[in-house]
Amino acid sequence: MTKEQLREYESYLNPLLEDKKVQQMTKYIQHGNTTCLEHCQAVARRSAEIAYKYNIQVDMKSMVRGALLHDYFLYDWHHQKLGNLHGFYHPGIALRNAMRDFELNEIERDVIRKHMFPLTLYLPKYKETVLVCLADKDCTIREFFASFFKKAVCKA
Ligand SMILES: [Fe+2]
Ligand SMILES: [Fe+2]
Repeated sequence: MTKEQLREYESYLNPLLEDKKVQQMTKYIQHGNTTCLEHCQAVARRSAEIAYKYNIQVDMKSMVRGALLHDYFLYDWHHQKLGNLHGFYHPGIALRNAMRDFELNEIERDVIRKHMFPLTLYLPKYKETVLVCLADKDCTIREFFASFFKKAVCKA
């Protein structure tokens, strides 16, 4: 990212990142040693990097905000009775929590609800959602393997 791109990205990310409700995500581990907030931040950054790199015209603000809230489910899924089904039901829970705590536009709601495509069959409606889907998978794989090799990768 260029300095200008980084400044734009951070102008959309930081107000939400500083919100105490969003910081609740530091309490939960997502993959390996990565907290939910670190994961969401990494996904937001990766989504923005892809859009900037390939010059894809997106609503950057909505994409970054949707990405930061995409896993706003606020529980430890490792200790859930239905842990194996977490992949299917957490986007709906994340969306419900995010709509309760923040005002979201249609793109932001689409990003959160459909980020697990193709595991869940909700087809992304916007290119912002497609980019977050890709970034989420990329970051998840890195975080998963980082826990094996005990070194941090894909940190925002
Ligand atoms: Fe997710
Ligand atoms: Fe995720």
